[in-house]
This record gives sequence, C-alpha cells and structure tokens, in this order.
Amino acid sequence: MKSILIHGDNIAGLKYLLNEKNLKGKIDLVYIDPPFATGVNFTITDGRATTISNSKNGNIAYTDTLKGTDFIEFLRERLNLLKELLSEQGSIYLHIDYKIGHYVKVMMDEVFGIENFKNDITRVKCNPKNFDRIGYGNMKDLILFYSKTTTPIWNEPREKYTEKDFEKLFPKKDKQGRRYTTVPIHAPGETENGKSSQPFKGIFPPKGRHWRVNVETLEQWDKDGLIEWSSTGNPRKIIFADEREGKRVQDIWEYKDPQYPTYPTEKNPDLLDLIIKTSSNNDSVVLDCFCGSGTTLKSAQTNNRKWIGIDQSEHAIKATKDKLETVEGDLFIAKPDYEFIELTETMPSCQQRLKSSGQKVLI
Ligand SMILES: C[S@@+](CC[C@H](N)C(=O)[O-])C[C@H]1O[C@@H](n2cnc3c(N)ncnc32)[C@H](O)[C@@H]1O
Repeated sequence: MKSILIHGDNIAGLKYLLNEKNLKGKIDLVYIDPPFATGVNFTITDGRATTISNSKNGNIAYTDTLKGTDFIEFLRERLNLLKELLSEQGSIYLHIDYKIGHYVKVMMDEVFGIENFKNDITRVKCNPKNFDRIGYGNMKDLILFYSKTTTPIWNEPREKYTEKDFEKLFPKKDKQGRRYTTVPIHAPGETENGKSSQPFKGIFPPKGRHWRVNVETLEQWDKDGLIEWSSTGNPRKIIFADEREGKRVQDIWEYKDPQYPTYPTEKNPDLLDLIIKTSSNNDSVVLDCFCGSGTTLKSAQTNNRKWIGIDQSEHAIKATKDKLETVEGDLFIAKPDYEFIELTETMPSCQQRLKSSGQKVLI
C-alpha cells in the first residue's frame, strides 16, 4: 500500500481506514499527540508557530477547548477505533501532559487492558523555568505506552555510553588499557543440589545465594581470564566496556521540542525516531491521527516505514506537506509518495469517492 495523508476529522478518517481501506488489524504502531485539554487556541502568526497563544492576530492552527470528561470521552472514542486498527503485534504511544494524563491512563487501562500497559515515559520537554508561581517548575510531559497483546514488536533500543559513563561504569583498566568493571558471580536465592550451588575452586556461594551460572561455565571464564580474584580470594566476573552495545534505554527521555517550530507544539523528530525504530519494523504501517506538522510521518518515511496521517486543520496539512517535501530521497530513503484524501462532511451518510490524485471523499 501507499502511505496516506487525510485531511478531516479523525473519527471519520479512522472509520474510512477501517471500512474503505480494510486496514483492521494492519497497523503496527500508533503515536498520537492530541490536544492536552489546555483550554486555549494554538496559533500561527506571520508564518511562525506560537506555542500557546490567545493572540487575536494569529491564524488558529487548532483549538484545544474540550475539558474534563468531554475530553476523556473524545479520546476514548478515537482509541476504540485505533485498537481495532492495531495489529496483534501493535503498540500505541499517547503523548499527554501532567494535568490530564492520569485520567487518560485510567481510561486507557479500560480500553487496552492494564496488563498491556508497558510504560509511563517521562519526557523532559524544556529547560528549567523560573515562573513566579506556587508549585514546582514543570519540565516534563508523559507518554503512555501500551501494546495490543503480549507479543508486540520490540527492537531493543540501546543508548551509547558517554565518556562520563565509561569512567563511572568501567573504572578499571587492564594491562592493555581496556576499560572494565567487575560484577559478583553470585545472585540471591539458594538452589538445592543444583549445578549452581556446587563449589567453585573449593568455594561455596555465600549463604542464601547461588552461582549465577553453573560451575563448568565459571571454570571456563576463569581459564579465559574473565574472573578477577580480589586480594581476599573473592572471585568476580570481568565485564569489558568495548563489548557492551550500550545502555538500556530507561523511562526518562530528554527530547526538547524545536526552538523555532513550524507548527504549534511540534515534537522533536528524534523522539519519534526512537519510538518508530523500537516498536515497528521496515514493513510496518505507522499511524498518527493527530499528525499536526507531520513529525511522525516524516520520521516513519526516513525509517522506511509506510505511514498514515490524519489532521483536521488546514495549517497542519500544509505544514505536513512542507515537512514531507524536505525528504529528498536517496539510495536509502525513498522520496515520499502518498495518497492525499480530503474528507468533507457535506453529505452525511453518503459515501462517494472522487478518483483523482487528491481525491475527495464525501462522508
Ligand atoms: C498537539 S498537535 C500535534 C503536533 C504534532 N505531534 C507535531 O509534531 O507537529 C494536535 C493536532 O491534532 C489535531 N486535531 C485535534 N482534533 C482533531 C480531530 N478531531 N481530528 C483530526 N485532527 C485533530 C489538531 O489540528 C492538531 O494539529
């Protein structure tokens, strides 16, 4: 299939994908960054996005006026449709803020099942603020991550060690100057008569613990020079820095938003790259039904995924098309080639497709 950009309300757009495009169960990854129930209008003034503004002069890019239960129900309706579209190996990431995020979490537990809740990722979005108000400065928002089933796509991400990490985590150097650290070769819990409770070089594991591997492996490690013996005769396993692929990625992410956004609340593309690489594959379809300026779509394109974007704002669609234009295409990344669909609500209950490159679908 071709990638798809839809201009229209996302309820209509998602139903269109289900009923007209037969995409039920075909989407591997959803990322959405809906309005956050902030109660304001987001504007574009003289071609520049104002992050939060009630400016009378700017063009409204989108409004964010739904509050409380209305907002939660607005999201629930869309999440139910997204769940139908998700494949059995699918995941959904929902970006939200600290004011409404906890209510959204409870509702998402209902829609996707608390057993499929994976993470509440803290996203550090800006530098410390010095606003004069009672309360701590707010530097974060959150991303709620759920899988559709227990077997989602998961390409373990790794973060590169910094020089500082190397010094802290691998403080020792061997004769060749190779950085390393040592870790205990025993772990909590006793095993009765197991291979991991037998003596190694005449030493038993400490009380209440067992060897992390069987004694034959310990012998092999020792032969290979991978055991370091302390002056008091305590064996520890050597771990070399240059053999580690990098750190495991944790649930606090620092991805500040662009300083000069082309669209209000435009997100950092590196954040999307991480999500897309981790939770989708090359043949996956990635969907963002609040696509704004198309950050998710460009990232999907540059990571060789197919994508579907929906937004009801004309400004968003223009910003998305402009952003996609910046992908020039080369040997490794294809130039975006997508179907553009206008969904208009002029003829209720009548579905008619006008076939052209920029087709209009009346719903
Ligand atoms: C927070 S912005 C998304 C920004 C985007 N992540 C980016 O990086 O540019 C939310 C977007 O949702 C769109 N939106 C809100 N309600 C919608 C609806 N019912 N159907 C389609 N789009 C909607 C708004 O027009 C807005 O562009």
